[in-house]
Amino acid sequence: MLTTIQFLLLPLLANLSRGSLNCPTEAAIPLQFHLVRECQRASADDALALESTSSLEDCAKLARAVHGLALNYAPGGPTRSRNRFIQPNSGSSARNKALRSQLTVFEQPAEFFNCHVLQCPQNNTFGGMVNDSRFDYYSLYGRPTTVRNYSCVPQVGLFLVYTNPSSYLNASLACSNSSEFDGSLVHIASESRTRALSQWMLDFNRKTRTMLEAESMPDIFLAYVGLSYNRTTSLSLHDFRNAQHESLMCFLYRAWDVGHPGLGQQQANASCVALTPQGTWHAINCKRELPFICEIFTASPMGWKLEAELDTGPNAVAECRNG
Ligand SMILES: *[C@@H]1O[C@H](CO)[C@@H](O)[C@H](O)[C@H]1NC(C)=O
Ligand SMILES: *[C@@H]1O[C@H](CO)[C@@H](O)[C@H](O)[C@H]1NC(C)=O
Ligand SMILES: *[C@@H]1O[C@H](CO)[C@@H](O)[C@H](O)[C@H]1NC(C)=O
Ligand SMILES: *[C@@H]1O[C@H](CO)[C@@H](O)[C@H](O)[C@H]1NC(C)=O
Ligand SMILES: *[C@@H]1O[C@H](CO)[C@@H](O)[C@H](O)[C@H]1NC(C)=O
Ligand SMILES: *[C@@H]1O[C@H](CO)[C@@H](O)[C@H](O)[C@H]1NC(C)=O
Ligand SMILES: *[C@@H]1O[C@H](CO)[C@@H](O)[C@H](O)[C@H]1NC(C)=O
Repeated sequence: MLTTIQFLLLPLLANLSRGSLNCPTEAAIPLQFHLVRECQRASADDALALESTSSLEDCAKLARAVHGLALNYAPGGPTRSRNRFIQPNSGSSARNKALRSQLTVFEQPAEFFNCHVLQCPQNNTFGGMVNDSRFDYYSLYGRPTTVRNYSCVPQVGLFLVYTNPSSYLNASLACSNSSEFDGSLVHIASESRTRALSQWMLDFNRKTRTMLEAESMPDIFLAYVGLSYNRTTSLSLHDFRNAQHESLMCFLYRAWDVGHPGLGQQQANASCVALTPQGTWHAINCKRELPFICEIFTASPMGWKLEAELDTGPNAVAECRNG
């Protein structure tokens, strides 16, 4: 009898504790690439992958596999097989042909590959776009945010560093309650994120040191990230949570500096996490005012509204389909 109860209870308890750690599950809907520009492609100079795929979905699969954040895709078919921005039999066409013959396959990917996987999406100036009626441009982030000064970490995501010092609570609100983007304090529990963002801090500090201006920015030695311990809600001393309330115990990566986090009462006083330029994590008193790092979310999957993120702003092609 006792063993039966244990048999029933143990998996239940295991599920309960896993559930209350709120670990991320395999996404039911894979990351979605949203149509952002029609009859254009983004510069593929730093493409992660150039291939010919038989469908947009295969191109998106490839992009997910190599952690691309955007892609160009040429659907082909009778209306899209020729770039109507280059007039055939014109002088410029002949010049183009002569030029093309001097370039390698990889220097002119649009002529040889219909799927270009890109490291970063375009910002809202769309400065890297080329008119090409064979292609459409897609991004995980949809139409770019108008917020300025964000950084793309290739293959990782879009991040925004606020240099104005704030308490952890205010920092968290600034990231999650912005009118300009959907986001949160950055998830940090991975090597690529910790490494890339601490490198960003190093670069920032190097830049400000070479700017010999009177009101030059102070160096950033610590910046809040989305990880904190809450005395009332955390299940154990190791149970730090990110902005999505997922426990650090769900993740394998740690970058605690020596002596961090503290123990017991010490931890209760210092329970919000900040990143250092050396790529380590410090547990800090949450009231301390520090710069902080937000993460910009990918656009929500809206498969039923295929063109919800389509951009028709400056330098877009107004009439793609009936052109
Ligand atoms: C957009 O990106 C380009 C480089 O691709 C950069 O030169 C420009 O400053 C950026 N503009 C904004 C508003 O972020
Ligand atoms: C964005 O960058 C520009 C130039 O680097 C700077 O003048 C401006 O203060 C920055 N804005 C924010 C919100 O950080
Ligand atoms: C949060 O920010 C507001 C104004 O932006 C300020 O009045 C308030 O004192 C800040 N709160 C904390 C806890 O820092
Ligand atoms: C979020 O921002 C809106 C305005 O953009 C403001 O009215 C609201 O009070 C903010 N919420 C919090 C919790 O700060
Ligand atoms: C801890 O969690 C409780 C309950 O959700 C919340 O009211 C409190 O503000 C949190 N404390 C901190 C420091 O975030
Ligand atoms: C925690 O903070 C309280 C008051 O803010 C202070 O009296 C106490 O010494 C601190 N404890 C530790 C271990 O730092
Ligand atoms: C593409 O062509 C349109 C006209 O159809 C033009 O308005 C736009 O500026 C061009 N964009 C680029 C990036 O060349």
